[in-house]
Parts: sequence; structure tokens; C-alpha cells
Amino acid sequence: MNGGDAIISIQEVTKRFGPTVVAVDNVSLDIRAGEFFALLGPSGCGKTTLLRMIAGFETPSDGTILIDGEDMFNVEPNRRPVNMVFQSYAVFPHMTVAQNIAYGLKVVGTQRAEIDTRVAEAIALVQLEGLEDRKPDKLSGGQRQRVALARALVKKPKVLLLDEPLSALDAKLREAMQIELVNLQHSVGITFVIVTHDQHEALSVADRIAVMGTGHVLQVAPPMELYEYPSSTVVADFIGQVNLFPVEGAEARDGGLAVRVGELGEIALSGAKERVTHVAVRPEKIRVAPGEPQDPGLVKVRAKVLNVSYSGDQSHVFLETPGGLGVSARVQNSDRSLAAVARENDELWLSWRPEDVQPLAD
Ligand SMILES: Nc1ncnc2c1ncn2[C@@H]1O[C@H](COP(=O)(O)OP(=O)(O)O)[C@@H](O)[C@H]1O
Ligand SMILES: [Mg+2]
Repeated sequence: MNGGDAIISIQEVTKRFGPTVVAVDNVSLDIRAGEFFALLGPSGCGKTTLLRMIAGFETPSDGTILIDGEDMFNVEPNRRPVNMVFQSYAVFPHMTVAQNIAYGLKVVGTQRAEIDTRVAEAIALVQLEGLEDRKPDKLSGGQRQRVALARALVKKPKVLLLDEPLSALDAKLREAMQIELVNLQHSVGITFVIVTHDQHEALSVADRIAVMGTGHVLQVAPPMELYEYPSSTVVADFIGQVNLFPVEGAEARDGGLAVRVGELGEIALSGAKERVTHVAVRPEKIRVAPGEPQDPGLVKVRAKVLNVSYSGDQSHVFLETPGGLGVSARVQNSDRSLAAVARENDELWLSWRPEDVQPLAD
């Protein structure tokens, strides 16, 4: 087997710890050269273990990992064309910024002049100019993280592995660093593989995301495809918020399916597969109005407001149909107003386009 044009090809890889723990369970995955790839999933699903196997800090119990076409079996971490930035960004406290960044080159005997050039390049890349002689305890969390990034990049790896690199930073700084990571990846042009449990982080930085659940890869897709066209109820529910309605019956129609969904009636799904157990609709796709929508093409239902949660830019409205179907709708507060979009016990009409309905099989 070979991984084609993949820089990393993970082939049927399993990792067991002891007799009972299967941290990674028969995962196959290709990561393309030059992409920003994210491994996303809840805590304990095997993300770090998978990354550590790519880095060479763990050995697969089964399966093969190819990097740049070469089988990594028995290849030591420092002989692999990858470098890892750890969750607890390890920098040496007694060394200056420049010494920290130079360290990895020094230990392999790189010439002084070349070290100086490459350290200066790395410092410029992560925008730490002027801080070369500072010690880590005189740096902010964001700056320390940049030192850790520069330390990894100075070795010019083909792949940079990042395990929850921003998790220690506060929300605002984290968002700023996400943009910087993307800019950095564009300027160095190498493959980045980031591990995160933060869906917003994965959606905003990655070209493609692998969603993981307990040792398995559930779906691999670009962010928009993952959000708009999830392949399972688990992925739909894990990424963002979603209304999942059970399907009661289905019949073939016009090359697609017509499904019956309780009080929502019949919904025509043009691209639907043979088997559909649920339909999914994102809350922001649902329009909320006092009057009945006249467009006959819309899916519509009347519902009573249970609760309204205001969060500034938007309001989240939770409703219930007479038959007891719970629906959540998100309304963008695009006009400045002091009037609530809805109040408890209001009877409103909900409507959405059939194109915004995602068919799912379990
Ligand atoms: N060295 C280890 N020994 C035993 N179990 C481990 C070890 N490393 C990870 N695990 C277990 O493997 C599973 C996956 O862990 P991990 O890869 O760290 O998940 P994540 O990074 O997604 O939070 C967890 O159940 C964890 O407890
Ligand atoms: Mg982890």
C-alpha cells in the first residue's frame, strides 16, 4: 500500500493500552501535503494518542503509518520529518527566547552562522522581534506559545503537530492566535495537524477536519461540509446545535425521497439516500414569524415559545409544537431594537426551506 499524494497516511491503525483500553480503533486517514488538518473530538476519544503515534512517541498495536511515503515502523521520533508542539507548551525557563529557539539546532550540531539565520527567521515568522533576550517568565502566555511554535518551526519539519496548542490561553487571545496560526501555516506552507476538542477552533482554522468519537473517525470533511452536510446524527449533534426529528416513513419520489416527520408533514428530499432515520435542521435556518408563511414550498409548523435566551448578537428561541415536538430556532438581532424577538407563551410560525434539511441514517 502507499498513501498516494498524502504526506501522512494512517492505515488501519489501532492502539491498545493494556488488555482493556482501545484508544484508537482501526483508523484510516490520509492527510494531504500543505493542508491545515484538525482532529476534533471530545476528551478521551483518542486524538492525542493518534498524534503521538504520528510523532513516534507511541507505537501502533496494529496498522501502518506512512509519512511522505515512508513506513514509520521503528523510526525514532527525531528521525521523522515532523515536529510536535505540546499542550503544555514546553519552553526552557532558564533560557532566553533566542536560546530556546536555537536549542534544537544546537543539539544536532548545526553551524553557528546557520543557527543565527534560522533563529532570526523563526522569530520573524512568529513575530517575536525585539524579545530575543527575554526569559519565558517575562513573556505573556501568547508570547510563550509563539516561542514553542518557533522552536518547532526552526527545525523545518514537513509536518507540524499541535496538541491543543491554544487551550491554556483565554478566549480572546485564543481567537487572535487562531488567525495567527492560519497566517503562519500559509507563510511556511507546511502541513499542520492540530488536535482540539473545540469545534469553533477546528472550524475556523482547518482546511479539513476529522471528527472522532471513542477511537473512531466518524467523518472527514472541510468545515462547511461538516457543518451543513453531517453524515450522522452524532456528527450533526457534536458540531454546532441541531434539531433532530425522527422520520416515521419514507417513499421514493423524483429520484429522491419523500419522508414523513410527524407534525412537519411530508418533506421532499432530493438528494436523500435509501435509508433515512432522522432529518436535521440547524436552528439558524429556521424563520420565526407571527403569521403563517405563504410560500407553499416551505416546511412549516405552528409552535409555542417555551423560552427565549438573549445573547446580544442573537436570540435563541425554544419552542414546542402542539404534538410535543421541541424546536430550537436562532434569530440574528440584525436591527437595533429593545423589543424581544419572542416572548414566553407566544404562538408563532416556524418555517424553513426543504433544501436546509439534512437527511441522516442514525
Ligand atoms: N499511556 C496510556 N495508558 C493507558 N491509557 C491511556 C494512555 N494514554 C491514553 N490512554 C487512554 O486512551 C484513551 C484516549 O486518550 P487520548 O488519546 O489522550 O484522548 P484525547 O486526546 O482525545 O483526550 C483514553 O481513554 C485514555 O485514558
Ligand atoms: Mg488529548
